[in-house]
Amino acid sequence: MVGVAGFEPATPASRKQCSTGLSHTPTRNAAYSLGLPPPQEAELRNFFLVNPTLETLILPAGAAAVTAAARTLAAGGLVAFPTETVYGLGADAANPAAIARLYQAKGRPAFNPLIAHVGDLAAARKIARFDGDAERLAAAFWPGPLTLVAPKTEGCVVADLATAGLDTVAVRVPAHPVARDILRAFGGPVVAPSANLSGHVSPTTAAHVESDLAGLIDLIVDGGPVEVGVESTIVGCFDQPMLLRPGGVPREDIERVLGRALAQPPQEAESDSAQPLAPGMLASHYAPRTRVRLNADGVAPGEALLAFGLHRLHGEADAVAIMNLSAKSDLAEAAANLFGYLRALDTTGARTIAVMPIPEEGLGEAINDRLRRAAVGRA
Ligand code: TXA
Ligand code: MG
Repeated sequence: MVGVAGFEPATPASRKQCSTGLSHTPTRNAAYSLGLPPPQEAELRNFFLVNPTLETLILPAGAAAVTAAARTLAAGGLVAFPTETVYGLGADAANPAAIARLYQAKGRPAFNPLIAHVGDLAAARKIARFDGDAERLAAAFWPGPLTLVAPKTEGCVVADLATAGLDTVAVRVPAHPVARDILRAFGGPVVAPSANLSGHVSPTTAAHVESDLAGLIDLIVDGGPVEVGVESTIVGCFDQPMLLRPGGVPREDIERVLGRALAQPPQEAESDSAQPLAPGMLASHYAPRTRVRLNADGVAPGEALLAFGLHRLHGEADAVAIMNLSAKSDLAEAAANLFGYLRALDTTGARTIAVMPIPEEGLGEAINDRLRRAAVGRA
């Protein structure tokens, strides 16, 4: 068996969302070290709805709010805060459990990769490898409403779940003073999608955030209405810099700095109004080199097993390697483990990675979406 990356330790913030009844704790999962009664069938079904009775604190921007925000983030909690573009819903970029919770709170149908917000260019360079174009754009537009997508560095702390397993990471240095204070106080990258329910419009006031996410997140920092009101422009810093999403910095300004036109993303890029360009279509999502076989009900010789739950499969004893996304069938835990485990199993030399069925509910839908992408097109 290969080694398993550890899960985040339990935190006060993560405890709050866990009155869903699940409790069994064979691993160090933040969500379940609660000593609650063992899971019942019905509770398992309900778990996928984030507990809507979480008390969401709303604080006016200021020193106390910044301190509370940094503490909440460090504890694995979710904090909505103003940026100059729209309100973001922040989580510790290095904490997969917090990120899984973020996807749950937003009700994201799939794990769209998130933007890592950092305090300055030096912090950005720790997570992303900038070429000359990226450096020029950063110098010209940061802090500000521009997001750069660039290859991850070796030591990039941003969790695979936040980058949807891509080898690239989206980074931005926001200009809003409250966002900057929070980033400075927290001290690490903060992933933050717009602080609205998936499919709703992006929030430009704390009241918008409250109406979508009250009861689902820990803290809202109210810094008044935001300035820009549309999301950041996203530029992919690949061989040819590419406009991935129009936004707060006009294309012309970017092209002026680059001294050339931005490339257009491929036509097959999927689009919808909330996310004009789905990156899954632009750069292939993480796909293991090893063939992936879904809905496995047994393990064949030479196969590795990506398990879910406690159900045993025939042939399991001879598996090349076994990693269990969540022994207690917790989809948030499974989401947090997904990309890391796929990568790990990809290095075992197994002929195929057999994947046990994952329920198509809650985060299971996104997990299955990513697994299907990993499985298609492999010989
Ligand atoms: O202004 C903004 O950008 C706001 C504030 C909160 O900073 N954030 C925001 O995040 O709009 P979100 O999650 O709504 O949009 C992030 C976009 C998505 O379209 C996602 O697909 C893209 O960034 N993205 C993230 N990582 C990427 C990557 N590695 N490659 C390509 N696109 C990426
Ligand atoms: Mg959004």
